Amino acid sequence: MMELWDLTLIFFVASASTYGNVLHQETDVHYAVSYFNNIHTSKLQAPKGILQETAIKEDANDGNPSNQNTETNNMHSPKSLSSEGTMFQFKFSEWKGSDIFDKDGNCSVVIGCTDLYHSDSCLVCRCSKNSTISIIADCSNANLDQVPTQLPSSISHLLLAYNRLNSSSLYPGVFDKYTDLEVLQLDSNNITTLADGVFRGLYKLERLNVYNNSIAMDSNLNKSRVFAPLNGSLVYLVMNRNNPNTSNPNLVYPDYALSLLTNLKTLYIDGLRGKRFGPLFGLLKNLTKLVISGYDQGYCFLESLHNDTFKYLVHLKHLNISDCGLNGSLVESSAFAPLNKLKVLDLTNNFYLGLEAIGNLMYGLRNSQTLRRLKIQRVVPRFSPCILILSKTLRYFRNMSLENIEAMDNEIEMIEFGALKMLPATLKTVNLTNNKIMFGAYWKNMGELVSLENLHLDGFFKPVQFPLVFPDSSFKCVSPPEGYGSFPNNGCICNDNSCSENQTDFMLPLPPKLRNVTMHSNSMAYIINNITFCSNNSLEYVDVSSNHFQTLQGPVMGLEHLKVLNMSSCFIETIGDTFFDNLTSLEHLNLYQNLLGDCLNADLKGQIFDKLTYLESINISFNNLYRLNRNAFGSMENLLALDLSINRLSHANFSITHMKRLQFIDLHRNEIASLPEVIRSHISWLLSRGVNVTIDMRQNPIECDCGNLDFLQWVVDTKVFGNNYSYYYCKFPIANAQALEMKNGYDEQVAMLSYSCEKHIIMFLSVAGGTLLMVLVLIAALIYRFRWTLRYWYHAAKIKISSTREVDVKDFKYDVFVSYANSDIDFILQELIPKLKERGIKVLVHGEKFKVGRYITDNIYKAVVKSRKTLIVITKHMLDSHWCRYELQMAKMQSVATGRDVLAFLILEDIPSSKLGPEVLAHMKSSTYIIYPKLPQHKGAFWDKLADDLRSS
Ligand SMILES: *[C@@H]1O[C@H](CO)[C@@H](O)[C@H](O)[C@H]1NC(C)=O
Ligand SMILES: *[C@@H]1O[C@H](CO)[C@@H](O)[C@H](O)[C@H]1NC(C)=O
Ligand SMILES: *[C@@H]1O[C@H](CO)[C@@H](O)[C@H](O)[C@H]1NC(C)=O
Ligand SMILES: *[C@@H]1O[C@H](CO)[C@@H](O)[C@H](O)[C@H]1NC(C)=O
Ligand SMILES: *[C@@H]1O[C@H](CO)[C@@H](O)[C@H](O)[C@H]1NC(C)=O
Repeated sequence: MMELWDLTLIFFVASASTYGNVLHQETDVHYAVSYFNNIHTSKLQAPKGILQETAIKEDANDGNPSNQNTETNNMHSPKSLSSEGTMFQFKFSEWKGSDIFDKDGNCSVVIGCTDLYHSDSCLVCRCSKNSTISIIADCSNANLDQVPTQLPSSISHLLLAYNRLNSSSLYPGVFDKYTDLEVLQLDSNNITTLADGVFRGLYKLERLNVYNNSIAMDSNLNKSRVFAPLNGSLVYLVMNRNNPNTSNPNLVYPDYALSLLTNLKTLYIDGLRGKRFGPLFGLLKNLTKLVISGYDQGYCFLESLHNDTFKYLVHLKHLNISDCGLNGSLVESSAFAPLNKLKVLDLTNNFYLGLEAIGNLMYGLRNSQTLRRLKIQRVVPRFSPCILILSKTLRYFRNMSLENIEAMDNEIEMIEFGALKMLPATLKTVNLTNNKIMFGAYWKNMGELVSLENLHLDGFFKPVQFPLVFPDSSFKCVSPPEGYGSFPNNGCICNDNSCSENQTDFMLPLPPKLRNVTMHSNSMAYIINNITFCSNNSLEYVDVSSNHFQTLQGPVMGLEHLKVLNMSSCFIETIGDTFFDNLTSLEHLNLYQNLLGDCLNADLKGQIFDKLTYLESINISFNNLYRLNRNAFGSMENLLALDLSINRLSHANFSITHMKRLQFIDLHRNEIASLPEVIRSHISWLLSRGVNVTIDMRQNPIECDCGNLDFLQWVVDTKVFGNNYSYYYCKFPIANAQALEMKNGYDEQVAMLSYSCEKHIIMFLSVAGGTLLMVLVLIAALIYRFRWTLRYWYHAAKIKISSTREVDVKDFKYDVFVSYANSDIDFILQELIPKLKERGIKVLVHGEKFKVGRYITDNIYKAVVKSRKTLIVITKHMLDSHWCRYELQMAKMQSVATGRDVLAFLILEDIPSSKLGPEVLAHMKSSTYIIYPKLPQHKGAFWDKLADDLRSS
């Protein structure tokens, strides 16, 4: 008997602990595996994607040669025809206008030859009809050394780029026939001179392009009247990339030759070192755009700008002198002074110009009311240290009406305090992308930029340091100019420990009309505590993605108009409950690729987002989310799109029932097997109201078994997954079964399952019915057999839970708990208790100290536990008492559980052992028992013995 009890217990304890271990290991392994799976898949998939792309590219390449083949075939076919003597079935001379065009307005390939006897000179011109008046003959890239003369005379565009035309192919009158030409492209040929009369008859020509030839801008060109026929028509002339040696002293800007083009509006020309644009440019009253750009556009090496360089270009609106090797020390401050209609000035990529020289150059434009846009990207040498924007640099800006400054890639680190006040009040957009601008006292002047709407401080190629504290130790100017001032709180942008005092002083002013700020990828690393922005701001859009904001403590105050916040890829681990509390206008929140798994798991009350009532989209994709709380999105009644993709969620247990406008839930790449009924019915309800809801559950282990049939049926009925089922899987409940991609949707699976599950149920009912019965009988038998164990454990557990500490007390309150039948009360009260008390034994009797309101069984358990021993007074009455037997069992269990011998028996009267019953007998056998003596003279010794027994534990 004893062994059995022990065994049961040992088994129970052992199995419980191993079960626990197994559970632990399993979950750990599961997490580890899924964690690595995630990494794995993301790592594996990238190269796969690339592979696929290259495969596609190869395909495309495969396609290209074949395309080329067809073209060459086309090109070659006339040759083969010619050898057979059946050449030119189609004759241009016989061509009557519209025949070659199909009804869509395109025409088939027009084949012609310049020379009947040399099939090499066969050419391909593709012609197309762009509109009713434009007929485009595209003969570019056709290896032509002659201008084709057989084309229809009505063509309006003749494209001859990338051929081998040279000066002798361009003889006077060569285009005579094409009097309707509006556009002529001769770029990338081998033209060295333009003879007078080449453009004879082209009195409609508007655009001429001779880019990338070798037409020298020498005195011969300037003397020529080659452009005379185009006077009054030509608007657009591209003649740059013709003079590689821009320092050749014999070259001049051909002001006489060009002055014949009185209608010219746009001119692209090479930039000659040290040369001026001559007085005859003054005749070009319509010339508004001049591009003198080097590098990949043309040839330009100006180096210097003089007060009279642009003296006669007074009508210019756009001037582009990018990539012209301008040298800051060689530019004169009045160079732009004549340009009093200038709107756009592009000084980009003049690495040796420098900000200071630009400041000086603005002298000439200081009162310009036309200049709107200044492009000064890359105007300092690469890697120059300590590029500063000084008040002095900006001294001529104040009265201009600039709206847009593009000053990217200038290594700018700091702006002098007060400098921003020098900027014009008209400024709307400043792009300072990829500089190294730090926070500084100049932020105090931000309010001065009264019109600024867009500010771009992004980083791209190199990390930019925004130090936590300004000025910080990494600020290594040799001699920092005076006037940089210091920020309140030592310049902390956030009040970390180093500057926690006087937090309220830390207010960031913003330009009052600023709507759009981007500061992505510039290595900001902050714990964002409470920041207050001065309240008269209009900030709507903030992109601070790809920075390092591990903790967002908040609250952020003052951004009452903020609608879009992008904090993706910011390594955010923690978001405080109040961070978003004051950003109540937020409509779009992007938290893609952060580390919010633990934070959102711990957000039990859904406090993080609880003020974002107007949110329309939230992206928490790629955040290692593994569990969301029911009310994680509790307040988002206006949400349209919820993106939780690429996480480790296994259940969709968050509530969406308040989202009345929801259109899209992205759950792809999670570990979700099914959607719960609440979510399904809400979506069905939305669908029934005409809201077009879709769910993306690609790459989830969707279970295809009878238990999930409801869900699958719902998916089929509602079509919430859309039409494309690539990457949708079926996971089968069979061990090691491969997940199967459901390219054609779940319809088949549902049909199969509904059939087999029905059969299943009938089988289940018949087989399981029998089994169940057997199991029930077995359980009943077991329960009966182990009823005391169960009861004991039940009470033990119950009391342990309710009052753990009481039970844990080691020393006993009583030496003995006496269990007796009520009929024996006289003996107990008159003899047993007094006799034992005399001997210093603390006695507890059944019913004496039992707590009112507690179940009697609980009381017995407690009494047993609180006493060193339980003394069972065996009488005939006792054997009939239900509670006594219960007490006996409890004591027995306590002995087993604690390993102490708890029980003692006092046999008060003679009872035949047959009457005791096997249970009591068994207990008595393994415990001490003492028989009450009949003779009075033995009684003293008896009580002594009993007291001793009870004292020993
Ligand atoms: C054809 O016409 C479209 C507008 O209709 C225009 O954008 C395009 O530049 C034209 N193509 C050519 C080669 O002129
Ligand atoms: C360009 O013309 C020059 C002489 O005019 C000749 O030497 C050269 O080979 C030609 N280049 C091409 C690509 O035809
Ligand atoms: C300048 O262009 C306008 C049309 O834009 C034209 O009317 C005017 O005649 C042109 N001026 C000259 C001097 O050709
Ligand atoms: C160019 O103009 C500036 C300002 O008007 C003047 O100071 C400078 O002397 C001029 N340079 C020359 C070479 O005339
Ligand atoms: C700012 O300049 C960068 C670099 O040229 C450019 O990529 C970016 O689009 C610009 N930003 C805006 C908003 O115009």
